[in-house]
This record gives sequence, C-alpha cells and structure tokens, in this order.
Amino acid sequence: MTIRAAVIGWPIAHSRSPLIHGHWLRRYGIDGSYERIAVAPEDAPRFFAELPGSGLAGCNVTVPHKEAALAACARVEPAAEAIGAVNTLWIERGELCGTNTDAIGFLANLDDRAEGWDRDPGVAVVLGAGGAARAIAWGLIGRGFTVRLVNRTLARAEELARRFGSGTTAHGWPDLPGLLGDSRLLVNTTSLGMAGKGDLEIDLSPLPGDVLVTDAVYVPLETPLLAAARARGLRTVDGLGMLLHQAVPGFERWFGLRPTVTPELRDIILADIEGRAP
Ligand code: ATR
Repeated sequence: MTIRAAVIGWPIAHSRSPLIHGHWLRRYGIDGSYERIAVAPEDAPRFFAELPGSGLAGCNVTVPHKEAALAACARVEPAAEAIGAVNTLWIERGELCGTNTDAIGFLANLDDRAEGWDRDPGVAVVLGAGGAARAIAWGLIGRGFTVRLVNRTLARAEELARRFGSGTTAHGWPDLPGLLGDSRLLVNTTSLGMAGKGDLEIDLSPLPGDVLVTDAVYVPLETPLLAAARARGLRTVDGLGMLLHQAVPGFERWFGLRPTVTPELRDIILADIEGRAP
C-alpha cells in the first residue's frame, strides 16, 4: 500500500519539501507519496485532531502552524519542547507525536560542509530571535557553544536568552561590533539578505580570521553576508543544506529508510531556486 506523507502550511505553494521527498521516494524506489496540503489557521486544530485516522503516515508542518502542532501532540521529543515548535509529525499507536528537526538540520549541514567546525566551541553570535534563531541557538548550546543573541527587538532576544538560561545573552543591533571579536561562529537567522527583503549590512572587520560564517537564508544561495565573508577570506557555509538535512528524520519515520543528502539532491533544489532544469 502506498505510504502517504505531506507538508502543511498557509500558504503552502512555495514549499520545496515535495521536491526533496519526491526525489528520495524515486531514488529508493519506495511506494510512497508526499503532497502539499493548504490548511488555513482556523482549520489547523481539526486537521491535527483528524490526522491519526486520515491515512497519512504523518507530515511536515510549516508557517504558521508549528506552535499549534506542538499543542496538538500527545507526545513530543525534547527538541520540540525546547524549541517551542513542531515541524515533523507522525502517528504512534494512534497518537499524534512530534519533533523539531531544524536544530539537527542546521548542525548536520555544518558537520557536512565545515568538518571540525565545533571541535573547539566558544562564542556563537546568532543574528535574530525568531523561530529559526530558537532552533539554532538550542542546537549550538547542545554542542557546547555560548550563544549571543542579537536582535532588532531586544525584548525578543531577552525572552529567548531567559529560556535558554546562563551562557546565553541578549543584545541589540548597536552592540554587534563589540560582540564579534572573539566569536567562533556567526549565524544569520533573520530574513535580511533574502531575495526581496532588506540587506543585512554589517561590518565584518571585527571577526577573527578563523570564524565560520553561515546563513539560514538560502535564496540567494550566496547571500550578501556570505559574499562579504568570502571576500574577506573567511570560511562560509550556505543555508541550503539545513533545508535538506531537516527533512531526513521525517522521511525515515514515514517511509522506513534513512535517506542521504547528496550533491544530486542539492542540485535539484538549487535548479528550482534558480529557475533552471536540474
Ligand atoms: P523565523 O521563524 O524565520 O525566524 P520570525 O520569527 O518572523 O521568522 O523572525 C524573523 C527575524 O528576522 C526576527 O529576529 C526579526 O527581528 P524582530 O524580532 O526585531 O522582528 C528579524 N528581522 C526581520 N526583518 C528585519 C529587519 N528589517 N531588520 C532587522 N531584523 C529583522
């Protein structure tokens, strides 16, 4: 019988998850499907309540339903609890279970593309304090980093820092130059640098020469931040791998096989971003 999974959101047409899971289903010859389902915010509680009997093995959850998905679960993994959001759902003994794979997606991308990046963890500067920052900061704390959260709205960063406790500090943008000098890692989680959004204009000169710079934004693949870092000779990792790696645990849950993130998959998604044939 065909195993069915999906991604839900509102809107959902832009989601690239069907491309990722569709590629793996073909590559591994699995009798499965992965569809987009548009779920309006007011319909989300009913969607989650009916999911265990719906015939779907589970689904990915994207904006704006990640918090509602957490609330709807009978059981969640510690990552989802800590991040305060669920992006992957499955059914176990008739009950809705959830986790959040954004942190492991972020970490796996760096493990894959910047070998040894966490060998000597120290200070990580995280720009932003939204959902992505929350997942990434939690992941970095787990790898032994001290996280400095820098956000336009200081109160949001302070709220996150309180949540993660000692070692995590909150700062406003004007503090940034003084926060970079001893950092091992600089991560952008804001929407700045994304095609069509504002530019992230920061002076990278205080960064040490052995820092790693990475961006959660992957459209464009090389954001102005990454381009500026590369021009300075700094090590950089783009954000596309985070999208690819966060999809791995869901696929494994639903379809029973742990998929691999390959250059071929990366090119399929990149081709879609760039509007060309893979
Ligand atoms: P996500 O879940 O993708 O992290 P989000 O929760 O909407 O999305 O968070 C967006 C982040 O980008 C926030 O840190 C936001 O800063 P505020 O908390 O001050 O809103 C940041 N951001 C968005 N536009 C920005 C801008 N023009 N300048 C600075 N920061 C911006």
